[in-house]
Amino acid sequence: MIRKIGVLTSGGDSPGMNAAIRAVTRCALGNGIEVYGIEDGYRGLVEGRLRLFSKTDVSDILSRGGTILGSARLPEFKDLSVQKKACEILKEKAIDALVVIGGDGSYRGAKSLTDLGVNCIGLPGTIDNDISGTDLTIGFDTALNTVVDAVDKLRDTSSSHHRCSVVEVMGNHCGDLAVYSGLSCGAEIVVTPETGYDEEDILDRLRYLDNLGKSHAIVIISEKICDVEALARKISASTGFSGRSTVLGHIQRGGSPTPNDRVLASRMGEKAVDLLVKGVGGHCVGIKANEIVSFPIDEALAMPKTSRKPLYRLFDRLV
Ligand code: ADP
Ligand code: F6P
Repeated sequence: MIRKIGVLTSGGDSPGMNAAIRAVTRCALGNGIEVYGIEDGYRGLVEGRLRLFSKTDVSDILSRGGTILGSARLPEFKDLSVQKKACEILKEKAIDALVVIGGDGSYRGAKSLTDLGVNCIGLPGTIDNDISGTDLTIGFDTALNTVVDAVDKLRDTSSSHHRCSVVEVMGNHCGDLAVYSGLSCGAEIVVTPETGYDEEDILDRLRYLDNLGKSHAIVIISEKICDVEALARKISASTGFSGRSTVLGHIQRGGSPTPNDRVLASRMGEKAVDLLVKGVGGHCVGIKANEIVSFPIDEALAMPKTSRKPLYRLFDRLV
């Protein structure tokens, strides 16, 4: 039987993490389990920065972006000695289990702690939607809304000036933010790790669109693919559009979570507590066909991501 659990947020923050912290805390307290909030991810854990949470410590946080616990990256957490230190700190406080809200790197840390005897459950908190074992991650919907809002605004000014807006979005090797926003905003071109980058092809297409008489064009590109400013200059030099680049950057990580993210995070937080109460560890929680599910972390990390080919096909048909 578990009496005390910890909860931490790790890696890049995402809107909805607070809703997950709240759900974990309230569901655990409802089961008579004490909850410790751990500051700044694994860093705060190995530094012993934990505080006992009451029900009201998680009041008024549902609508807040970011994470009230703080998040951090601690590369040394891959070392067994650092993981053992974390286990010692948890044992000192008699904390039996942990909920880790983060991405796949954070999941690996959670799996290591479970192997060392502390049951951990991972919740997918990242705007990238790049975690296997779940259709959606906590924060993706909010980030997508932020991107769509920005691109809609860029479209207004681009069409007034016969411009092509090149918009770089986040995603960390995953094209979901780009292709979902491309579909939502009716972008002319989407470039992601899945589509590959062919500069000549982009310029040819823009020349074709200009000849068609289009007043503007939107190109959405995943980060880490090309220098969007240089591309915008080439667009100005070799098409009828004047090119302008916008890097949306960390704006995509902030903001009040959408209702969908709040509900998703709450459902996942509940599942994490239910699993720990049943004595399950080393699992991560996901949503599949609107059902909250869980898989062993190793299994989830090895799963192929659901193919996005139908989305790209649809984009091509609508453009
Ligand atoms: P994310 O969780 O969003 O994928 P990172 O990959 O930066 O973000 O991982 C977050 C943290 O998880 C890292 O800073 C580190 O503390 C921990 N971590 C990452 N990979 C591992 C690993 N292989 N083993 C143990 N801990 C890891
Ligand atoms: O994983 C979330 C994410 O925002 C990625 O989209 C991006 O590549 C990365 O984190 C940025 O990290 P940092 O906050 O360290 O700049």
